[in-house]
Amino acid sequence: MQTWNEYQSENKDRFLDELLGLLRIPSVSADSKYKGDVANCAAAVKEHLLKAGCDTAEICPTAGHPIVYGEKIIDPKLPTVLVYGHYDVQPADPLNLWTSPPFEPVIVDGKIFARGACDDKGQMFMHIKALEIMAKTNSMPCNVKIMIEGEEEIGSKNLGKFLEDNKEKLKANVVLVSDTSMISMEHPSIESGLRGLTAVEIEVTGPNRDLHSGVYGGAVANPLNMLCKLVASLHDENGHITIPGFYDAVIDLTDEERKNLNLAPFDLEEYKKELNIKDVWGEKGYTTLERTGVRPTLDLNGIWGGYQGEGSKTVLPSKAFAKITMRLVPNQKPAEISALIVKHLNNIAPGCVDVKVIPGHGGDPVVTPTDSPAYLAAAKAIKTTFGKEPIPTRGGGSIPIVALFEKTLGLKTVLLGFGLDNDNIHSPNEKYDVVNFYKGIETIPYFHKYFAESVK
Ligand code: BES
Ligand code: MN
Ligand code: MN
Repeated sequence: MQTWNEYQSENKDRFLDELLGLLRIPSVSADSKYKGDVANCAAAVKEHLLKAGCDTAEICPTAGHPIVYGEKIIDPKLPTVLVYGHYDVQPADPLNLWTSPPFEPVIVDGKIFARGACDDKGQMFMHIKALEIMAKTNSMPCNVKIMIEGEEEIGSKNLGKFLEDNKEKLKANVVLVSDTSMISMEHPSIESGLRGLTAVEIEVTGPNRDLHSGVYGGAVANPLNMLCKLVASLHDENGHITIPGFYDAVIDLTDEERKNLNLAPFDLEEYKKELNIKDVWGEKGYTTLERTGVRPTLDLNGIWGGYQGEGSKTVLPSKAFAKITMRLVPNQKPAEISALIVKHLNNIAPGCVDVKVIPGHGGDPVVTPTDSPAYLAAAKAIKTTFGKEPIPTRGGGSIPIVALFEKTLGLKTVLLGFGLDNDNIHSPNEKYDVVNFYKGIETIPYFHKYFAESVK
């Protein structure tokens, strides 16, 4: 029987080709125009699961995009790992900033360029190939269940119900996810937490129609001016968020925890250079790693209204809009935080316009302890294939369903991510390094092996 390494070397070109095939399917969950492509991508993932050696694989319809589920049970008495990932991707726009079309993957300098290359097709596909390696070499150390959803990028709206309805089917010992990043190939790391998220939309309404800004300007409140003032007031001059009560639930890190967090290699000058920014910005009193890892934030994701076309138009718009998301840290609750911002904006809204604040989707923050058997198995797997102990970090992104794995299924999650912060996820020219893809495939079977050994 072949070893894992032998099987991988013999099949690595095909592994990459198959990933490129998945990347050609524009499975954009946010845009209903791609509904058929999302469904096609689900079908392709199901076929891959069967080909990899799953006993069963199925497409589970939801009220939105389908979930793909497969499993390979070798012995019910052995531990079971539930793998989670997503096959949906973010919209590719702005298209003109891509150097090659987002759904026509190319490999340049050892990097795969395509929407979804890293987030999360490239990363979830490593698990399918790792499963294939273990299955085809007859060396599965444990049972594997695998659930790949199609709505992560729009807040996993229907996955919560799927967990509720399928508790028995999804029974496992731990959840394994590759949808996060590590510091670098030289400094492998494991994220030991994710921030939560809560979204709101603001709609400011002024006069009943767009007005001539000469005839009415100066006498009637401009909704865009008012909206800008409102959102600008949400941070003070020290970068703190001004919403009363916003920080009340935040658990401050101990000095020891802060010290450890800042031990991770980080070069501020490199960081600025890479982003082409003159300086960093953020909450006073915290380092960049703390600002992105363990502090809550508030950001405008979009603001619009009035005239956006060529040239100028002297208009006083009737309406103005903004979309805001806030990143949350333990133990902030999305619903409580969105209630706070709704209340605050209503309190400070000027009487001359109508301000509507509409709460949106959200997800709880999570912390994954670094002393659990699953984390230790992941660390040992990294040590085996990278030759180095991984550094525990705190990730700034969010995967809303992870908190529900714990709440609904009672399962801890390990975030074994192989992306890099500069992979341009959600941005033009998203990429995933081929070496990261292969290294991930190589590492994952060891996680299964060490985890199975630790719970036996
Ligand atoms: N894979 C990301 C989350 C992520 C990225 C975690 C990098 C850690 C490091 C995921 O697909 C994502 O983009 N999540 C969204 C949340 C969702 C509700 C839109 C996010 O973080 O904005
Ligand atoms: Mn993702
Ligand atoms: Mn994403």
